[in-house]
Order: sequence, then structure tokens, then C-alpha cells
Amino acid sequence: MSHSHSNRGVVYKGPGEVAVENIPYPKLEIGGRKCDHGVILKVVTTNICGSDQHMVRGRTTAPSGLVLGHEITGLVVECGRDVEFIKPGDLVSVPFNIACGRCRNCKEGKTGICLNVNPARPGAAYGYVDMGGWVGGQTEYVMVPYADFNLLKFPDSDQAMEKIQDLTLLSDIFPTGFHGCVTAGVGPGSTVYIAGAGPVGLAAAVSAQLLGAACVIVGDMNESRLAQARSFGCETIDLTEEGDMADKVEAILGEREVDAFVDCVGFEAHACGCNHGKEAPATVLNSAMQLTRAGGEIGIPGLYVTEDPGAVDEAAKEGALSMRFGLGWAKSHSFHTGQCPVMKYHRPLMQAILFGKVNIADAVNVKMITLDQAPQGYADFDGGAATKFVIDPHGSVAA
Ligand SMILES: NC(=O)c1ccc[n+]([C@@H]2O[C@H](COP(=O)([O-])OP(=O)(O)OC[C@H]3O[C@@H](n4cnc5c(N)ncnc54)[C@H](O)[C@@H]3O)[C@@H](O)[C@H]2O)c1
Ligand SMILES: [Zn+2]
Ligand SMILES: [Zn+2]
Repeated sequence: MSHSHSNRGVVYKGPGEVAVENIPYPKLEIGGRKCDHGVILKVVTTNICGSDQHMVRGRTTAPSGLVLGHEITGLVVECGRDVEFIKPGDLVSVPFNIACGRCRNCKEGKTGICLNVNPARPGAAYGYVDMGGWVGGQTEYVMVPYADFNLLKFPDSDQAMEKIQDLTLLSDIFPTGFHGCVTAGVGPGSTVYIAGAGPVGLAAAVSAQLLGAACVIVGDMNESRLAQARSFGCETIDLTEEGDMADKVEAILGEREVDAFVDCVGFEAHACGCNHGKEAPATVLNSAMQLTRAGGEIGIPGLYVTEDPGAVDEAAKEGALSMRFGLGWAKSHSFHTGQCPVMKYHRPLMQAILFGKVNIADAVNVKMITLDQAPQGYADFDGGAATKFVIDPHGSVAA
């Protein structure tokens, strides 16, 4: 096939700056290694994520020139020699984790820590610092390796395009929010506290409802995001207000603890109350131990790093946080961390969308933008917009 196409993508330039630039059209190879197991996708939708913001805020060691984007949905335009079951013309969701399908961890379903896709550490993703050097997908075209294993094919492309604003969330935040709740033990009748009302927090809140939670409380200091959580039936706590967290939970539940706690904030957490402008990277983890019932579980999809050049203190620069771990030990808490293994959840959550059991796009307030609007989308998202920005690089959704 001809590789004479052009390609454009969102490129990280340096702290606070991204730009849309010409980039090479993808090949079925990486770092000189052939990827005959890969496909080339024409990107249909690709979402901006809070995980991207950590890099764009200069809070990681991401190099300038990195092509961003790990939340990808696309149309297959070319298949490598060894791809057997995915075909050109298939409309597919790409799990943000890259997984080989052959290693010990992949065989156990732990696709977020695949052993063969990143020479530096277990686990890889598209367009992300320390995640194996794979080119990101906030682009017109992108290469996806191990295509038969990784891709989720939508059963009917026309039907899928009608719900594409929901289905685009299967590449990351819907499975991630759901995984946060599953690992926190959410089930019918659970009381749940979700820290953070960003897109992941809102996706976790919807997921808790889907799992049958009795009451879902969302805490944040961003009022428009809290209003978004209330729009689909959550209780909210405004963390700019003074007062003990347990008192606030008691005012809602009549009890000072919840059954399940999900951290959808991560290492850039801010302090609550009068200190809410200041960073306090361990504050959510400490609240988790305070507010979760003894024997309860804590889901931690929020990202924590091993290097944070912009951290508030020396220890935090190496990811060492000031946690009151003894409290968690005393209460026999279980902690569940790491990348969400998207593949565990994307098929059932696709079915929930296609059969009308969940309105995830409304919950996270999806807004479609063009590729050229991506820098503005990054800026608005960084400013706390109660919106999940979804890039439509070819205008395929608009059309
Ligand atoms: N584990 C995974 O696989 C995975 C996947 C996707 C995203 N993530 C991570 O999930 C986190 C959330 O992603 P997002 O896109 O929603 O990001 P986001 O930045 O839009 O949302 C974070 C929210 O947390 C709020 N916040 C700050 N301090 C708080 C506190 N102490 N208590 C409650 N809320 C507080 C902020 O106001 C913001 O609204 C990020 O760390 C992201 O990297 C992890
Ligand atoms: Zn993401
Ligand atoms: Zn693997």
C-alpha cells in the first residue's frame, strides 16, 4: 500500500504548550522493529485526558516533541502481514494500554503491565512519557501493534457512529472509572466516595451507579464539575468549604464512613478547606483511610509518579508521599493501584452503551472539537472546564 499520505498531530512542546504539527505517516514498525502484527488506523475520535495534563503542565519528564494521545477510536485502513482477524474497514476501540497478549501478565489479564512493550518498565501506552516510546494518537493516523489482541471491533459501524461520543470513552476513562469502582468493591447498595469530579471521577460515579451503589458522593473544589456530578444524581461535597471530611459525609449518609472509596485525583491533589489553593499530594490517600470503613477497599486510578520535577517537597520529587499508612493498616484496608487493564471491561461496557443502559457521554459532558482546536481544548481543560474534550481529526463525526 502507498504511504504517501500526510499526517498531523498534537505535539508537546514544553510546559504549558502543545501545537498541531505535521508528523510522519505511521509505518508498521517501531524503533526499527517490524510490527507485522500491527494496523494503521484513520483516527475517528481521540480524547484529551487528565493524564496528558500532567505532562503538559511540566509535571513529568516528558520530552519536547512527544506526539500526544492515548484515547483512540479509529477505522482500520491497513493491516500488517500477521494480522488475522481484524480487517480494513473495521471500526475499533483501542485500549490505551499496549499489550502483547503473549507474556505472563497479559495471560493473567493484567494488560496494563505487559512485559514486552516497554524496555524501561512493565506497561506501555501511546503518546506517554516512560511508556515505551509509542507514537500518540491525537493525530490523523496512528499505528496500533498486536492488533488482533488489543482492538475491540464494534459490531456495526453505522450503529457505532450514532453513539460514537459514548463509545470513544471505552479507550480509557469509562473502563478506568469502572475499574476504580470494581476494585473498591462497589456493588448493590454500596455507599461510595469518589474523590475528583474530572472526567475520570464522573466516569467512576456513573460506573458506581451502574454497579448498583445506593449513594454516590463526589468531592472536588470545582463547582461546575460538582454541578455536572449532581446532574445525574450524585451527592457532592465542595472541598473549598471548611470542616472535617467525616462530618460532611455524615451530613449526607448519617454515617461517618463509606463502604468504598475511589481516588480519581492522583498526585496533583490539592488541599481542602482554607488551603485549597495549595498542593498536598497525599491528601486524597489520607482521606481514603479516614473515610473508608474498616475492611473496605480503596480504588486508586488517580496517577502517582516516580518522578515529579514540580513537586512541593524533595520527597515528593521521587514520588515519596507523607501518608498515614498506619491508619490504613489498622483498618485492614486494601489498596488497588495502577493503570486500568482496559481490556477486562471494554466489551461489557460497549454493550451497556449500545443497549442504552448508560449515558456516559452526557455524564462527562463530551464536547467535540477539531484537531486545530486541540491547543484551546487543552487550555480550557486545564482551566477546569466541566467537559471531556474529544477531537474529531477528519471531521468524520461532524459529517
Ligand atoms: N489508572 C489509569 O489507568 C488512569 C487512566 C486515566 C486517567 N488516570 C488518572 O486519573 C486522574 C483523573 O483524571 P481526569 O482526566 O479526571 O483529570 P482532571 O485533572 O480533569 O481531574 C482531577 C480533579 O481532581 C480535583 N481535585 C484536586 N484535588 C482534589 C482533592 N483533594 N479532592 C478531590 N478532588 C480534587 C481537581 O479539581 C480536578 O477536577 C489523573 O491523575 C489521571 O492521570 C488514570
Ligand atoms: Zn486517558
Ligand atoms: Zn504482554
